[in-house]
Amino acid sequence: MNITEIINKKKHGSSLTDDEIYYVITNYISGEVTDYHMSALAMAIFFQGMDDKETATLTNVMAQSGDQLDLSEFGNLTVDKHSTGGVGDKTSLIVAPIVASLGAKVAKMSGRGLGHTGGTIDKLESIPGYNTSLDFESFLDTVRTTGIALVGSSKNLAPADKKLYALRDVTATVDSLPLIASSVMSKKIAAGAKNIVIDVKCGSGAFMKTADDAVKLAKTVVSIGKMCGRNISAMITDMDTPLGYAIGNSLEVFEAIDILKGKGPEDLKKICIKLSSEMLSLVFGGDWEERVIKSLDSGNALDTFYTWIKAQGGQLEKMCCNAEHHYEIVAQTDGFISSMNAELIGKAAMILGAGRTKVTDSIDHSAGIILKRKTGDFLSKGDVIAELITNKRNTLKHAEIAFNEAFQISDHYQSDKKLIYDIIR
Ligand code: URA
Repeated sequence: MNITEIINKKKHGSSLTDDEIYYVITNYISGEVTDYHMSALAMAIFFQGMDDKETATLTNVMAQSGDQLDLSEFGNLTVDKHSTGGVGDKTSLIVAPIVASLGAKVAKMSGRGLGHTGGTIDKLESIPGYNTSLDFESFLDTVRTTGIALVGSSKNLAPADKKLYALRDVTATVDSLPLIASSVMSKKIAAGAKNIVIDVKCGSGAFMKTADDAVKLAKTVVSIGKMCGRNISAMITDMDTPLGYAIGNSLEVFEAIDILKGKGPEDLKKICIKLSSEMLSLVFGGDWEERVIKSLDSGNALDTFYTWIKAQGGQLEKMCCNAEHHYEIVAQTDGFISSMNAELIGKAAMILGAGRTKVTDSIDHSAGIILKRKTGDFLSKGDVIAELITNKRNTLKHAEIAFNEAFQISDHYQSDKKLIYDIIR
């Protein structure tokens, strides 16, 4: 087999065989296939696509390139949830304790934020003492006792995806549907859960900017998951506007706790109820929405959250949200907020210190943005739209400029936008 012939074959739009995909990935890891070969192949895949069988094979080979978690002791009770990335998306912190309070097992690995999107591990690390790197035995033990363990992805989870993703990031090939689908699913398959819900985000703050593209990605991940023997569904949800009001790590933990206390923003609550019900119906069958609402209302989900965080060393009582500088963005005119670009708001939060531009950047857990108003709200001149929060005073001006570009005010507001577009099973 020869890598140049394989690149040429894909360049002309032919499907690659299982053997060819295996050859490419194993030799990419060993270094025989170089970054320049892989860049050319990724670009050929970007233009020519891959069919579901090729995408499933690529997923499997990348999943098998490193550790594969054995969660078999939990039988069919394990459930994972993954979001394709967004702004203000703290749903994992909420749905994990909800579904664990109702008998499912969440043994989950999550990532860090990059660019305008946040990551669950950064949010959890804003809780003093929370251990995101338990060894495997302690990880399993925490699932056994609390129903949840949530740690950072191990270095050796789908290493082929890590190497390929870093290359895609610098060769403008991230936004290829089969490459996104296989990247997401390789990590989910290696992470071992029997049941998986993928939250495919759609809109200005997401990889998939249109509902059509989001549906295509959702169908592809569901098809791959099934081919890999998992119970899977994909929910397509809005990421045109940030989710909830809080953007930034500790700010998002506080908002997640609000939802578990029966308070908090309606959009976030609604998505969490739907995601949890979907996760539970994959595990047990049937409709779970009423029981999910009951778990929230009774405080059971909140108790499970406290037990889980404590089990991983987290000391919520020591959490603070005391960044030094707070700055209010004020409406300059009357009118409706007709749009709020989630990507630009995520970038403004990043400038304040809440996110990173490179994987090696450090972040400020207390920095971020609290939105006071969202799309569709009416503003009178002088009303506060958002509060910018940071420890670095010199970031405020730059963040304000980014934030001001993110929203539009007009005389009228009419929208047929949905929060949840579809569920693909
Ligand atoms: N998230 C991933 O894990 N991989 C992608 O390619 C895009 C989003």
